[in-house]
Formats: sequence, structure tokens, C-alpha cells
Amino acid sequence: MKIECETIGVVHSPFQQAEGTPIQPARAAGSVGTVELDARYVDGLADLAGFSHIILLTYLHRAKPFSLKVVPYLDTVPRGLFATRAPSRPNPIGLSIVRLLGIAGNVLTVEGLDLLDGTPLLDIKPYFGEFDQPGDVRCGWLEAVREHEVVADNRFAVAGSEESHSSK
Ligand SMILES: C[S@@+](CC[C@H](N)C(=O)[O-])C[C@H]1O[C@@H](n2cnc3c(N)ncnc32)[C@H](O)[C@@H]1O
Repeated sequence: MKIECETIGVVHSPFQQAEGTPIQPARAAGSVGTVELDARYVDGLADLAGFSHIILLTYLHRAKPFSLKVVPYLDTVPRGLFATRAPSRPNPIGLSIVRLLGIAGNVLTVEGLDLLDGTPLLDIKPYFGEFDQPGDVRCGWLEAVREHEVVADNRFAVAGSEESHSSK
């Protein structure tokens, strides 16, 4: 089944290249940027300011074509793609939980960005600790990883501002 969806905005971040970009929001303290929502959706931001964190669903438009086995940033051995958060996926959708610092009109200022500048935005949702944080979490291969890298290299993303996935 083919699904068409339209972007609702764009992420402005300090990161132009994958190399050096934080690998997850939890490793991106101080990475501040903005989320510019298309003006026609601004009324949908009502009541969001009371939330400390929001979920950004994005289209990782510069991701390289996917492989089903990848060596994740936090490991040295190949893992099944769906057991990782690698950006190169059949549908390169990003899920980033970021701190909401403020809202001015259609622009949200956020901290904890692990996204490249210009990343297309698909959706914004509030983070609900009660619903989104299960109590009995196991983390598979990640539990054995001791040294956590905090920034990415270029293994999953194309260089420059070239798009590898058409967003048309
Ligand atoms: C490991 S992914 C995690 C993204 C998201 N937090 C997730 O779990 O879905 C984060 C990395 O994706 C890469 N990245 C960020 N924005 C991208 C984009 N628009 N296109 C391709 N790669 C991107 C950067 O290298 C960044 O370090």
C-alpha cells in the first residue's frame, strides 16, 4: 500500500552534516533549534505550552538507502535494522523526544535536537510520561554496550544538502 503524506513544517537545527550530529536527544543537551510549523496549523498548538517535552515525527530526508543489518552507532557488530534507531530505513521516519522551551506563533523552540537542519516535519505530539514510559523496560543489545558514542558519523546520511529520498 502506498501512503501519501504532506509535511507540516520544517526543523531548523545547528547541524548541516550527519557527522557531529548528536545520535539521540538524550545525548543532545544544549542542542537548541526551532520547529517551524506551517502557519495554517498554528491553532493546533493551543494547550501544548504546558508540556515539558514533545515528540517530533520527522522524515529523515537525507538518509542513505537502508540495509537490513546495520552496525549502530552504539555498537560494533551488525544488528537487525528494526532493533536499532538507524535513520536509514524503508520509511526513514525519525522519532525525537525534545524539550519544549517555548512557543511563539508558529515557531517552537526546542532543546535536544538530533536532526539535520531542514528536516521535514510530519507530526508533533505531547510526551506523556504516564503513557510513554513503560515500567519494565529491557534494552536488548544496548544493555551490553558500555561506551556510548554521542555524535554520528556519515554512515547513514548523504553529504551536503542533497536529498536521498524524494519528499515530493
Ligand atoms: C540515530 S538517528 C535517531 C533519530 C531519532 N531520534 C529516532 O530515533 O528516530 C539520529 C541521526 O540521524 C541523522 N539524521 C538526522 N537528521 C537526518 C535527516 N534529515 N536525514 C538523514 N539523517 C539524519 C544524524 O546523523 C543523527 O545523528
